[in-house]
Amino acid sequence: MDTSFTKQETYIQEFNPKDYLETYYSAENGAMKREWLDFALRKLHETFTPGGVEGDTLIDIGAGPTIYPLLSACEVFKNIIISDFLEQNCAEVQKWLKKDPDAFDWSPVAKFVCELEGNSENWKKKEDKLRRTVKQVLTCDVLKSNPFEPDVLPPVDCMLSCLCLEAPCKDIESFRNTLKNFHDLIKPGGHLIVLSVLNSSFYFVGQKCFSSMTLTKEDLELAFKGAGYEIEKLEVVPREDRSAINITNYDGYYFVHARKPHNL
Ligand SMILES: C[S@@+](CC[C@H](N)C(=O)[O-])C[C@H]1O[C@@H](n2cnc3c(N)ncnc32)[C@H](O)[C@@H]1O
Repeated sequence: MDTSFTKQETYIQEFNPKDYLETYYSAENGAMKREWLDFALRKLHETFTPGGVEGDTLIDIGAGPTIYPLLSACEVFKNIIISDFLEQNCAEVQKWLKKDPDAFDWSPVAKFVCELEGNSENWKKKEDKLRRTVKQVLTCDVLKSNPFEPDVLPPVDCMLSCLCLEAPCKDIESFRNTLKNFHDLIKPGGHLIVLSVLNSSFYFVGQKCFSSMTLTKEDLELAFKGAGYEIEKLEVVPREDRSAINITNYDGYYFVHARKPHNL
């Protein structure tokens, strides 16, 4: 299997949003639909609560063609900006926002988040609330010192990133530099929430193999601290379900809640 570093050009030409959604989030056999969604959605539910992480604006960076991480956040943020490197992923998100009949069906995931919130009947209202809360869908490049160049966004209360940074970053130094690129996007004292997988070297999207940067818990601690953040929580849990190991070979899940110090 070719796990040499995947270039940006390859993402532009070969990352197919529909294949990605089908491979990882299809309600029938998506590789991430069980353990990952259970882990990520529970952590996000615990995090985005009144009195917890909340505020005016949240940016989801590297969102791909997905909206699932925002189903809890839309209850405690007034504005959400969704962003990704690829135009085709932004277009797929726009389809869901506009209720296009061809959009991916996130309703099983919305129902699960409503169950966590204790109101499983509410999922349609929640989807509509998220649609109203998303104010912009932008392209970005996390490797740039201003990821939204040429636009300069006002700093936000919270940045969120799921399963993204291991894709563009080649090594731990580039991972740390990417975290530094977020400094100016976050208000002093603001939050940076990153969830992803450990020790993954590849992931398939349909038939196409993309590289992933392998990360350990120790790497994460060093990278966040080295980039100047204060770590509030860092949790890792092992992967139990290895049924899709030939689609992506990670061995655990991580959740980091960090804060930008006031003096950074
Ligand atoms: C594995 S997907 C994750 C998508 C989604 N966040 C999720 O949770 O399923 C990796 C994403 O990273 C994005 N990406 C790759 N290079 C990037 C870059 N330089 N800047 C921002 N996003 C990038 C890809 O377009 C893709 O959507």
